[in-house]
Amino acid sequence: MAKILVTGGTGFIGSHTVVELHNAGYGVVIVDDFSNSNPKILTQLEKITGKKPEFYELDLCDEAKVNDFVKKHTDISGVIHFAAFKAVGESVQQPLKYYRNNFYSLINLITAFNQKVNLVFSSSCTVYGQPDVLPVTEDAPVKKAESPYGNTKQIAEEILQETCAVTPSLKVTSLRYFNPVGAHHTALIGELPIGVPQNLVPFITQSAIGKRGPITVYGDDYSTPDGSAIRDYIHVVDLAKAHVAAIQRLESEKASSNYEVFNLGTGKGSSVLEIIHAFEKSTGEKLNYTIGARREGDIEQVWGNVEKSARDLGWKAELDIDEMMRSAWNWEKYLKDNPF
Ligand code: WQD
Repeated sequence: MAKILVTGGTGFIGSHTVVELHNAGYGVVIVDDFSNSNPKILTQLEKITGKKPEFYELDLCDEAKVNDFVKKHTDISGVIHFAAFKAVGESVQQPLKYYRNNFYSLINLITAFNQKVNLVFSSSCTVYGQPDVLPVTEDAPVKKAESPYGNTKQIAEEILQETCAVTPSLKVTSLRYFNPVGAHHTALIGELPIGVPQNLVPFITQSAIGKRGPITVYGDDYSTPDGSAIRDYIHVVDLAKAHVAAIQRLESEKASSNYEVFNLGTGKGSSVLEIIHAFEKSTGEKLNYTIGARREGDIEQVWGNVEKSARDLGWKAELDIDEMMRSAWNWEKYLKDNPF
């Protein structure tokens, strides 16, 4: 059976994608270095899929090891590349760590496959910065990145686009995620932030379970209806299913070019305060929050135009904010009873 290589497959989006690939009948092989994930996720994946995942611990920055791995696994028909550092704040403090890891791993991977592979690349709406027009479409201008993390996504997309332009055997789809949240309905996998969560929803669930104090709303003086910033939150399971659709499109040879970009969002924006109130309504839990200053580097509002994904990937997000909040909360409660 042809197999899909999932790099970073024990991470948040990676693990949910492994489940959806399994559900779609694909064989999967995972590589990860556990730099931002927990080995226990492998056991959790086995509980969900009923199959022990094929897994190899691998540092994708080690060129020789990556070449050796690819030589040994000739049954890999496609790659979904999640493995990268992704903490915006940390990237500002340690830019070299981000440029080295995120570029070495990508370049080693493509080179090891002799630039002959179907590759789905994990990109981000961060590349748009604050769009001039909303909802933002894939052909909107990429703006100067607000962080080294965002810059690694922009430059990685350029590396891929420019390589594809002269290498017909390399077929790439860059998926620009909006804000992934929620967890698998079994509550066996979900987001596992290391330390104090930087992202809104994991902070909300940790505050609700008593692990953190009140939530700080980073600014209520934006030019938005309730003053708090707006994002396009998308359920991680919907996001995972889009990766399966992207692999299927690459296999189908339907693509008009060997480099394509798609927005993965819901097409709807929600403010921070709306998310807080949605969590309370969906779970019945009361949240404590205070209004604080804006966070450095945050944009005011963004949500995606997702018509191209619907047309060409045949995919659209189906799970609503209520399911995003309830699944995130169920996962937090599972973690309390089953600490990793
Ligand atoms: C969402 C909103 C915050 C925490 C980042 C990356 C992006 C992607 C998703 C990887 C913002 C506000 C947050 C808190 C708050 N990651 N907030 N209090 O910054 O939109 O996107 O994560 O691909 O690339 O940039 O997500 O969840 O951090 O913030 O008020 O305690 O919630 O200001 O408006 P963000 P986030």
